[in-house]
Amino acid sequence: MSTHWKSYPTAQDAAVACARDILVSLDRAVRSRGRASLAVSGGSTPKLMFQAMAGAGFDWSHVHIFFVDERCVPPDHEESNYRLCREHLLEPARIAFANVHRMKGEVLAPQAIDEYVAEMAAFFGEGVPVFDVIHRGMGADAHTASLFPGEPLIHNRTLHAGYVYVQKLDRHRLTLTPATLLAARETMVLAAGADKADPLWQVFHGERDVERYPSQLDTPWAPWVTWYLDAAAAARLNG
Ligand code: 6PG
Repeated sequence: MSTHWKSYPTAQDAAVACARDILVSLDRAVRSRGRASLAVSGGSTPKLMFQAMAGAGFDWSHVHIFFVDERCVPPDHEESNYRLCREHLLEPARIAFANVHRMKGEVLAPQAIDEYVAEMAAFFGEGVPVFDVIHRGMGADAHTASLFPGEPLIHNRTLHAGYVYVQKLDRHRLTLTPATLLAARETMVLAAGADKADPLWQVFHGERDVERYPSQLDTPWAPWVTWYLDAAAAARLNG
């Protein structure tokens, strides 16, 4: 079993393991620096992870929650990543509003990004934001964050966040950009489902083409990145 990816019987098992390791890393950060920063992604898989985190009895008082990406919708919209996190982590774990840094999907994208970059600078100071932990997922097209195949931002190493238009979704999105994603002290990638098996094999063993497979952003074997997979997603890797 590689130290870079771990396979679990079910999506629930993978989500619980990912949640456990995120909390261990956040606790270590609080003990060493007095506070911790976590950026979370959305989609469907994180719900189980959020629920495991909320139920762990963790002390969130010194942890600040940011977002890896957000759909350009209001915060109460069914597609909102913030709403998913609010319902399954922020409210159940009673995380203080002042510790939550929301990407404003309801605001015009350029303005929302300017505000978010400023909010990160207010917390991290100038320079690339260095998150203690970034949680990412991977789509069936190997996208991560909101960096979809063919998105030019995947090559950008100066912006800290940006906005994209996703043609196939007919939706604008806000996203952290590679400079910030790659600067994280630790990255945990949670991926589950049979539709992830082929893209995962491409990401780990296929041709290196980060514009085609944005989840190749960090080399799959990067020591600071750990993948948490269910058996269905890991099927080809386990083969
Ligand atoms: C989003 C996410 C996205 C997600 C993948 C995987 O806003 O959609 O941030 O990058 O991680 O799409 O989504 P699932 O967990 O639904 O497979």
